[in-house]
Amino acid sequence: MRTSHIFLALPALSVAQQQFPLVDQVKGWFAKASDSITSVTNPVASGAAKVADSRVQPLTVANYKDVLRPGAATASPGIEEWMVFVTGGNKTCYGQCARAETAFNEAVVLISASSSPPNLALLDCENEPVLCNAWVVGPPNVLHFLIAQPLADQSTPATTYRSIGFNRTTVTATQIAAIHLEEKYKDKAPYEGIFHPFDGQLAQTGLMIPIGYAIWGFSKIPSWAFMIFISFISRNMMSRRMQPPAAPQQGGAPAGGQPAAS
Ligand SMILES: *[C@@H]1O[C@H](CO)[C@@H](O)[C@H](O)[C@H]1NC(C)=O
Ligand SMILES: *[C@@H]1O[C@H](CO)[C@@H](O)[C@H](O)[C@H]1NC(C)=O
Repeated sequence: MRTSHIFLALPALSVAQQQFPLVDQVKGWFAKASDSITSVTNPVASGAAKVADSRVQPLTVANYKDVLRPGAATASPGIEEWMVFVTGGNKTCYGQCARAETAFNEAVVLISASSSPPNLALLDCENEPVLCNAWVVGPPNVLHFLIAQPLADQSTPATTYRSIGFNRTTVTATQIAAIHLEEKYKDKAPYEGIFHPFDGQLAQTGLMIPIGYAIWGFSKIPSWAFMIFISFISRNMMSRRMQPPAAPQQGGAPAGGQPAAS
């Protein structure tokens, strides 16, 4: 009896019990997430220093495919090197990414002076939580891409991808610059798993960004609501599990017939 009262008090959760409305709810999250994402402003404007601004392209869930595209930025033949600096703010970096951002801005100056500077981009997880969740990356981090030109038959060769994390309390400009200047990226094995931003199974099947929205949506649910939801599901499963033993004893009339909360 007590559980039915809880269901009445929380109509949204009791609706979720029937499977299809749960799907609708998830779709609702996606729609809401899309709205708020399109209204987000230029991430570079908030944080990174001026010197880096002109050379570093902000990545968003909307533009990353166009920005990180073979031949998008330079016409040079062969492999195109990209360094994407991942930063965050109060929520996504505990407010402790200032040192890393400064180090990156200084590294941009060092890197830009090299004979073959890589393309540079910035991913701010505070403004782009969906993309950070989809790629499963957190700050401070440098994502290193080697993007090959399309082949003669227009097919896209695999992209070499590495995710290089830094200690936010000790990161320095020379550490970041060395990824390119000393080819330190080669110390790290390329990542080839399902979360690869372009060649992984999630990206290839188009699930990567929806999953990013889903994880982000779940993170928006207050923890108390999540706890009630979990306890409701487990209670529901228990009542289902307990029913079969009861049925044989009662012979022809299983009391109630349906799982507890209909
Ligand atoms: C981050 O937190 C600090 C300290 O709590 C606060 O001063 C600052 O305004 C916050 N920044 C943003 C962008 O909310
Ligand atoms: C970062 O460096 C500090 C100082 O050396 C150390 O105490 C801390 O454990 C390091 N954090 C990580 C995640 O390695």
